[in-house]
This record gives sequence, structure tokens and C-alpha cells, in this order.
Amino acid sequence: MNIGVIGTGYVGLVQGIVMAQMGLNVMCMDVDKKKINDLKNGIVPIYEPGLKELLDHHLETKRIDFTTDMAEIINFSTVLFIAVGTPANEDGSADLEYVENVAHEIGKLINNYKVIVTKSTVPVGTGKIIKGIIRKEIEARNCEIDFDIVSNPEFLREGKALQDCLNPNRIVIGCETEKAKEIMNDIYGSFNTNQPPIVNTNIETSEMIKYASNAFLAVKISFINEMALLSEKVGADVQTIARVMGMDGRISPKFLHAGPGYGGSCFPKDTKAIVSIAKNYGESMLVIDAAIKANEKQKNKMVEKVIDKLGVENNINGRVIGILGLSFKPETDDMRDAPSIDIIKGLIKAGAQIQAYCPKGIKESKWRLIDYDASIKYMNDEYECSKGCDAMILMTEWSQFRGMDINRIKNNMKNNYFFDFRGVFSKKKELMESIFDYYTIGN
Ligand code: UDX
Ligand code: UDX
Repeated sequence: MNIGVIGTGYVGLVQGIVMAQMGLNVMCMDVDKKKINDLKNGIVPIYEPGLKELLDHHLETKRIDFTTDMAEIINFSTVLFIAVGTPANEDGSADLEYVENVAHEIGKLINNYKVIVTKSTVPVGTGKIIKGIIRKEIEARNCEIDFDIVSNPEFLREGKALQDCLNPNRIVIGCETEKAKEIMNDIYGSFNTNQPPIVNTNIETSEMIKYASNAFLAVKISFINEMALLSEKVGADVQTIARVMGMDGRISPKFLHAGPGYGGSCFPKDTKAIVSIAKNYGESMLVIDAAIKANEKQKNKMVEKVIDKLGVENNINGRVIGILGLSFKPETDDMRDAPSIDIIKGLIKAGAQIQAYCPKGIKESKWRLIDYDASIKYMNDEYECSKGCDAMILMTEWSQFRGMDINRIKNNMKNNYFFDFRGVFSKKKELMESIFDYYTIGN
């Protein structure tokens, strides 16, 4: 079966390569000519462990090809996955412009039966909108062409995208016809080992599952972040609390790591989108709304912690702060909605000078923080980053920071404040306290 993937971002590219790995013939399309040219030559535009190796392999097996031509990919494919971006509008709702443009193009060019699958996270009801657009375009051509719409949300985590895509916990397929269901179940029935459960639903349920899952995880993180703030005040230890809560099978220990707030391309955007969807239907999502507010509060609290320690009357003028890790999580170069951005802005506004190091996030940070460029120096490693600093902030838990020589860091510094926003060294709290003026989250 020939598969087309439209949009080669984090989601589309991983999906395309994984489908090739599953033995299918894949063509990926993107409007970005440079990206497509690079991909044809085995150059992956994003950092995602293992992706380049698998791409190289399937360029060789010829199971994957790339194009910028919409007509070519439509002619080639029986199943077309839409994986273009769905950024947030100012009001938090999802911007469907790209998805709708793709639907118009498909309607203009489709010439035989196809299954059109939304892989991008789209608001409930988008499947029906896409169907309407394609149908109208076909009617405008005075043709009769059969097609089906399917919702098949992606649950991959950046940094672990291949692993998540090759070994998913579940596959959700939302569709309206037996024909589409059979084709989709056929595609996903070919996992070599550990066949994951396939859940067939209607389109709306499938669209909601993605939002419900992401919103729930965001709520879980905001919940534990608030527990962390309170734990600090009452003398409790949030990591132990999370561990013991997690021993209860009903809760599970996952996504209970307190930190500086969640970021990334999904949680911030999807939580706001579901609140906006609910509003359109006259409902309120009080719990999710609170999680969004708590996440903003968490980032502000992190800035306050630093200012409280280093500042004189809320002023940290001239203080040099080293930031370890910029990306929203380890093993990715993605800076979309990374908490580091708001925290760095907050510190600079209070007068700080920033020295930042991240294994993969520097390139993206440079343009995202361009307006603050005069106050940020980008460094080559964690040791250079600590030179002359009053304080270090461990912002993102890259594994290279876990093993760093903390004495060397201390010796490079002018003062000895260490803010461990991810609790990476909290198990060595006594040691850390003997070297630094150490703050760890939730303890
Ligand atoms: C995805 C999903 O689309 C989004 O819904 C989910 O919530 C987060 O992840 P992602 O793959 O991370 O998005 O987005 P991005 O990296 O922006 O990639 C989108 C790609 O689509 C880009 O390469 C862009 O050039 C391409 N594109 C966009 C098209 O090919 N055509 C368009 O009309 C618009
Ligand atoms: C998420 C979902 O996990 C995935 O299923 C969905 O498809 C896309 O969105 P991703 O954004 O790649 O994936 O990363 P994730 O590992 O979920 O982390 C998101 C954010 O939450 C990060 O900023 C991370 O640091 C933070 N986080 C996560 C915490 O602060 N604590 C935790 O316990 C877990």
C-alpha cells in the first residue's frame, strides 16, 4: 500500500519514516523546498535520536521518497496523512489554515478513492470540516470521487519519537466506514513484535482522545508542581510524595516530576485549544483552565526564587546567571513554548546577564530570544557556562548535566547559588549543600 504524508515536521517525518520501517511505500511532501532537498540527501532538519540512521536506511531501501509536489503525492498514495502544523491563535484556538489549505488541494487533485487521515492535533469537528471542503472541491469539478476521512492521533514524545511510534501503547483510529477501518487496521496490523491494541472509534471520539490525554498529563504536571511549592513551605519532599503516590496503581508515577512548568509543541497549545473548543460549545473546562494558570504561575515562581535569593529589593542588576539546558525537555532541539524562554525573559527584565548552554537548543534560542540578545551569551559547554556566574540554573535535565563535575562548576563561579529546577541532584542534597547555596524544587 502506498502512503503519503503531507508535512515533514516532528510528527510527519517520524510518521513517514516509521511507516517505511513497517514495510510500506512512503512519500513525504512539504512546501519547504530546502527541507525536502535536504531530506532527499539524508539531512534531517530536526534533532531526534535515531531518526537520521533510519532515514538513511530507507533512502537505500527506496521505501521512502520526498516531494514538494502535491499532485505527485496525491497520485502516489492510497492513504494520505495530514501532518502540517496547527499553531495556536492569539485566543488559544487552533489555527486550521494549513490543514484547510491541504484539504482544498486534495479536493482539487484527487482522482480515485483515498483515505485522508488527520495526524495533526485538530479540534473536534475538523474531520467533518475537511470532508466538507474536499467534497465541495470535487463537486466544483463536476466529478464523483469516493473518499474517506479518518482521525488517527499521534502520541509520540519528542526525544523518544521513534520508540513511541514503533512501540505505541495504543493506536486510535476514528472513522465512519468499514472500508476505511479495514485499510487503517491493515496498515497498523503489521507491527513485527508487540502488536499494540487498535481502538476503533468514531471521528469525534478519536479527536477528543488526543486532547483529553494531553490535557490530563498537563493537569498531572501542574498538580505536582503545586505540591512542590507547598512541600517547600511545609518541609516535605515532593519527589518522595510523587514516588509514593505513584505506588498506587490508580495514579501511576509517570508525569509526576515537578519542574519549572511544562512546555513543548503540545501541552501548552492543546490545553488552550480544548478550553477554546469547550467555550464554543458553551462549556467550561475548569480543571484544565486551572492547570494552564498554574503552569504560568510555576514559571513566574522560578523567576521569583532566583530574585529572592540574589536580589536587593527585587533588583538583580548585573548578576550573571548560567542556564543549563534551554530546550523544553532533553534530547530535542525544540524550543516551542520552552519554560526557559519565559524564565530567561523574566530574569533579564529584573536586570540579570545570562550565560546559556544547551546541547541542542542554542540555534533555536538565538532567534526566539533575539530581542534579548544583548543580555545573553551562548556558551560551548556547562563549564564555560559557569565561568564568572553568581548562580547556575539547571533548567532542562539533559543526561550530560547529571554527570558533570560539580566542583569544577563551583570553582568557575563567582558566587555559589545553584537552582536545580528539575531536582536532578536532590538525592545528593547534602553534598550539594556543602558546595553550593543549593535550591532544589519541592524540597
Ligand atoms: C505537529 C502537529 O501538526 C501538531 O498538530 C501537533 O500538535 C504538534 O506537532 P509538527 O510536526 O511538530 O506539528 O509541526 P512542524 O514541525 O511545524 O511541521 C509542520 C510541517 O508542515 C512543516 O515542515 C511545514 O513546512 C509543513 N507544511 C505546513 C506544509 O507542508 N504545508 C503547509 O501548508 C503548511
Ligand atoms: C507530549 C505527549 O507526552 C505526547 O504523547 C504527545 O503526542 C505530544 O505531547 P512532548 O511534548 O514531546 O509529548 O513531551 P513530554 O515528555 O510529554 O513533556 C512535555 C513537557 O512536560 C516538558 O516540558 C517536560 O519537561 C514536562 N514534564 C513532563 C514535566 O515537567 N514533568 C513530568 O513529569 C513530565
